[in-house]
Amino acid sequence: MITKPKGTKDIYGIEAKKWQYVSKVIDEVMEKYNYNFIRVPVFESSELFHRGVGETTDIVTKETYDFTDRGGRNMTLRPEGTAGVVRSYIENKMYGDVNQPVKLYYNCPMYRYERPQAGRYRELTQFGYELIGSDDPICDAEVISLAVNIYKILGLKGIKVNINSLGDAESRNNYREALIKHFKPHINELCEDCKERLEKNPLRILDCKVDCDKEVMKSAPKTIDYLNEASKQRFEKVKEYLSLMGVEYVVDPTVVRGLDYYNHTVFEVEAEIEGFGAQNVIGGGGRYNGMVEQLGGPSTPAIGFAAGFDRLMLALDYENVKMPINNSVDLFLLYVNEDEKKYAVYLTNDLRMNGFIVETDYLNRSLKSGFKQADRLNAKFTIVLNSDDLKNNELKIKNNKTKEEDVISLDALIYYLDENVIEDDDCNCNCDDSEEHECHCGENCKCKKEN
Ligand code: HAM
Repeated sequence: MITKPKGTKDIYGIEAKKWQYVSKVIDEVMEKYNYNFIRVPVFESSELFHRGVGETTDIVTKETYDFTDRGGRNMTLRPEGTAGVVRSYIENKMYGDVNQPVKLYYNCPMYRYERPQAGRYRELTQFGYELIGSDDPICDAEVISLAVNIYKILGLKGIKVNINSLGDAESRNNYREALIKHFKPHINELCEDCKERLEKNPLRILDCKVDCDKEVMKSAPKTIDYLNEASKQRFEKVKEYLSLMGVEYVVDPTVVRGLDYYNHTVFEVEAEIEGFGAQNVIGGGGRYNGMVEQLGGPSTPAIGFAAGFDRLMLALDYENVKMPINNSVDLFLLYVNEDEKKYAVYLTNDLRMNGFIVETDYLNRSLKSGFKQADRLNAKFTIVLNSDDLKNNELKIKNNKTKEEDVISLDALIYYLDENVIEDDDCNCNCDDSEEHECHCGENCKCKKEN
């Protein structure tokens, strides 16, 4: 048997329905924030990630899937979304659009050669968004609050938002020097990679997975103490706007992020759910004002965020968050002879084109096992097509819940279904509003505050 590659998953059945539901909610929320969907290639020139994400990051040095194509070009499967989106922004001259800033989002697989474990995969899905073209702290606050709001709308309760600032170029330089001064006397305590990082990019020592528990790491200088006045004031503004948006956050000076492109605001969202496991960072992002220019575009400020979709799904499962997933069909059509089967072929198609979820028998089942199948599919109604009834322009339709049967004319079927097919009424959308309102399950249902 050929099995799936290590660190990948098959998503199917009810899990696939949950993925689709969460994607739909994300699409709806992104539309409200006026973000446009963008699809960029799964593979790009390796150089893009080297220049964009950073030569000394773990992602680029250890985790990329690199290959040479048949034309001898060096290619890399995207390990993250930001570099590709920025490449597209530059290549398509989006900086010239009249609508600025440019707001783009994506929801797609990424590839990182990591050691697989629960919540850590080699093919991971991220939904992420990038706001390119404004340096105003209002954008920093909005990008953070958008992440929080998506988790909230989905019904995830146990989240913690950690924010920090890396400051501008001057602050980062001061900090870099402080790190070198701190780590140099302890160089022999550090792993081989960190020894190299000390000169090349000391910030990366802070997210080393080997040295992370050592005392020398815990006593390392904090970014926040090296911010110049302008960077400090900027960070204060971000915090002020966050409070106005009602976002609860913790300033955590240890958040530095594992990619090279950040400056000023950086943030991570953690799942605070008992037993969730080590991979509890369910999303992260920050400002990257230098990347557009570094990749050959005009100097353009930008900020963004990406959530681990797989980890989000795990978190929703851990909290037992219910989702309004349709697990039923409106009508199951049964038949016995070939004439009735032909009518089933016609009617199934017609009703589906009129918006109903209709199933019929594909396995020449007996009526008895056909009814069982209708039950397994949670069919709301069943019709056994009968030649005599059809000649009289009639149908017998059975409500599978009440077991009541109605005799209706063929022409009235669509009206009958329109009137009687009721969507699953318990919405479980977990929104806070206990009044009747239009909720994101698409129904005008009464959403009860759950849990
Ligand atoms: P990142 O922190 O590398 O940031 O990844 C974002 C999220 O993807 C993580 O917080 C985590 O939830 C999830 N993730 C990362 N690696 C894995 C993995 N191996 N398995 C499962 N989930 C994983 C970025 O990728 C940046 N592009 C975010 C960004 C957008 N910054 C600015 N704009």
